[in-house]
Amino acid sequence: MNLRDFAKLLRARWITVCVTALVVVLGAVVYTLLTTPLYQASTRLFVSTNSGASVSDLYQGNLFSQQRVLSYAELLRGETVAQRTIDKLGLDVSATALQARIKASVKPDTVLIDVQVLDESPVRARDVANTLSDEFVALVNELETPTAGVRPDARVVVEQRASIPTEPVVPNPVRNIAIGLGLGALLGVGLAVLRDLLDNTIKSQEDLEEVTGSSVVGYIPLDKEIRKSPAVAFVSDNSGTAEAFRKLRTNLQFLAVDNPPRVIVLTSSSPAEGKSTTAINIALALAEADHEVVLVDGDMRRPSLAKYLDLVGEVGFSTVLSGAASLTEVLQPTKFPRLSVLAAGPIPPNPSELLGSLAAQKVLSELRAKFDFVIVDSSPLLAVTDGAVLAAGADGALIAARFGKTKRDQLAHAIGNLNHVGASVLGAVMTMMPTRGSGSYSYNYYYGKAHDDQQPKEGVRQEASARHVKTKRASDD
Ligand SMILES: Nc1ncnc2c1ncn2[C@@H]1O[C@H](COP(=O)(O)OP(=O)(O)OP(=O)(O)O)[C@@H](O)[C@H]1O
Ligand SMILES: [Mg+2]
Repeated sequence: MNLRDFAKLLRARWITVCVTALVVVLGAVVYTLLTTPLYQASTRLFVSTNSGASVSDLYQGNLFSQQRVLSYAELLRGETVAQRTIDKLGLDVSATALQARIKASVKPDTVLIDVQVLDESPVRARDVANTLSDEFVALVNELETPTAGVRPDARVVVEQRASIPTEPVVPNPVRNIAIGLGLGALLGVGLAVLRDLLDNTIKSQEDLEEVTGSSVVGYIPLDKEIRKSPAVAFVSDNSGTAEAFRKLRTNLQFLAVDNPPRVIVLTSSSPAEGKSTTAINIALALAEADHEVVLVDGDMRRPSLAKYLDLVGEVGFSTVLSGAASLTEVLQPTKFPRLSVLAAGPIPPNPSELLGSLAAQKVLSELRAKFDFVIVDSSPLLAVTDGAVLAAGADGALIAARFGKTKRDQLAHAIGNLNHVGASVLGAVMTMMPTRGSGSYSYNYYYGKAHDDQQPKEGVRQEASARHVKTKRASDD
């Protein structure tokens, strides 16, 4: 993973990073709120020794004091002073517990000792610090007086006494939150990378081409409007979605140039991957380019074309197959010019059998003769064989994969099902690609590439293909 991939990953998974950082920061806030505040009171001790009047005596005395302070600091943290302080103040703690709250440090090259005492109560912190220092002064006095009545060798003076601390030193909210933010961001990035490594959904052109073994012919953006009205209004619509279908239309005409596919099945591995919506709009895009198009609902288990296009769903493909009506009787014109629809008809008990029958083949042949393009919507391949059976009888299948939802293994399995029945895969279509936010990077990148490649030649290809189809129909007839 190079830096660019990493940046893309962070853009795609910024929600994971932010949510993790937020959770850890909240944890830090809770920890801060739950931490018992501790106050710190400080005193400063000065160590002096008896020294003579000469310069060398002074120097020796100073050196002696500096050596002394290190031992004094140890003594300050020791049990004796702690116990004396407890006795003096009548505290209800053990000497060890008090020792843990005492810090004594020596400033290098000085004879000063800083004493710090932590306590839940600011007043007690001050009292302990002051009493501890006084007790220490007395202790040093005892220790440094070789015989009673003689001047001690060294003396300690409390140079600065403790006052009542106003602010607790623990917890430190700013530090805790900063640490929480840093750790949270790191953890979030780690999680984002992990999720990316574990994510086996289709999210890029490479993935889709690798798994399907065929090229990507279309990228359909996620469009909220499509949920309300599945048919894109090509006449008035120049949105990204309409453009995407126009590009798909162009690309279709490059598939098998010597024998361009005219009966195309739209299928996918799982439900709700946008098969029906894509089928409708491919048909509309082809109709917009002056082709006569028929849209066939080959999903006899969960038909949706009639519902999506406000048509009669009670008669259709299954009616013709059962012999109850002729094809011309059930073909429905639509409000869109040059687009007819063969709905699914009543749901039969044996769709796979019906779709694989000679009668179904005959219907598709009749439609092929009547129209420039026959676009067949179908059922998901992993659930039933209907889609594969239809694709085997058609010129090939376009396989749809939903961005970030379709899993690589599912798609590979679906391709296996198509290969198994000898159906050819014409190309893959990535559906519901986010146009912004998570994942949009791939969309813009690949879509942009496709766009640049196709844009200048669209008109030329359109005409060439229209001519080709017309010639083909004439020869079929
Ligand atoms: N490009 C898109 N942008 C936004 N929503 C979409 C898009 N394409 C399809 N949808 C929505 O996704 C849902 C499933 O779409 P559709 O019915 O076309 O999928 P399907 O693969 O045919 O499903 P089924 O397997 O049930 O037949 C629908 O609610 C549809 O409106
Ligand atoms: Mg469908």
